Amino acid sequence: MKMSAIMNVKGGVGKTVTVVNMAEILASLHGKRVLVIDADPQGDATAFYLDELEPGCGLDAILAGTVCVYDEAIRDTGNSKIDIMPSTTDLFDVDSYANRQHCCNAMADLRDALEEDDAYDYVLIDCPPSFTAASIAALSAVDSVIIPVKLDAFSVRGMEFLLAQIRELGRINKRCRVDGCLITQWHNAEVIHQAEAMLRARGVPVFETHIRRTDKVDESTWYAQPLEVYSRLSGAGIDYRKFVLEWLGKEE
Ligand SMILES: Nc1ncnc2c1ncn2[C@@H]1O[C@H](COP(=O)(O)OP(=O)(O)OP(=O)(O)O)[C@@H](O)[C@H]1O
Ligand SMILES: [Mg+2]
Repeated sequence: MKMSAIMNVKGGVGKTVTVVNMAEILASLHGKRVLVIDADPQGDATAFYLDELEPGCGLDAILAGTVCVYDEAIRDTGNSKIDIMPSTTDLFDVDSYANRQHCCNAMADLRDALEEDDAYDYVLIDCPPSFTAASIAALSAVDSVIIPVKLDAFSVRGMEFLLAQIRELGRINKRCRVDGCLITQWHNAEVIHQAEAMLRARGVPVFETHIRRTDKVDESTWYAQPLEVYSRLSGAGIDYRKFVLEWLGKEE
């Protein structure tokens, strides 16, 4: 099992879009069993998969220690190979009462239990755009981090801040490595070409594949469909398939 956090401390860079599309491609094209963990109290990944949800039954319950078995915090999705551990609004409260070390222990315990049961091939954690108890717990337990980044100065700053924090966290999670930065919402403009060249020259790992900007992505969120279903021939649909192949290739 490989557990990866999709994170950038900058918002709106495509973390959730990346998670739901990676999950679909891994499941439907590569036959993998995937668990999506929604660690963002905004709950976008949760809303993508589920219509209604009672509070206190997702990752918040795991971090608060109010469930005895992890299955109680997992729901089916429309794809039999993808499950979701949802985020409910209760995740907003975890930071106010939970001890961070306790959350890290709970996440490590979850990882060990999933691994022991051989329940999934991949666990993808959709992180919030900030360091919360849930995102720190995720970083402390994962094998790797993927950092979606838009080619604007604010997003690149967010990426650099996160890379520095991951280096710090290396002391508590030695297994964690940065798989790479994933350029999202790429489009054909001079400023984007220059920013991409600058990013690739910085010595940080950047995936070869970039994800093109296309209106189909916004549209697909209204229908709660991954691009594989909504528009597999769109630029971003093609790029996400290519990206997943590149990501899987890195493991070998
Ligand atoms: N390749 C793309 N082309 C066009 N629009 C995109 C693309 N990727 C993401 N978007 C749009 O950008 C917005 C932000 O995407 P998303 O919600 O995935 O970002 P996020 O990093 O998860 O945000 P947050 O930090 O708020 O959780 C959404 O409106 C989404 O539809
Ligand atoms: Mg998001």
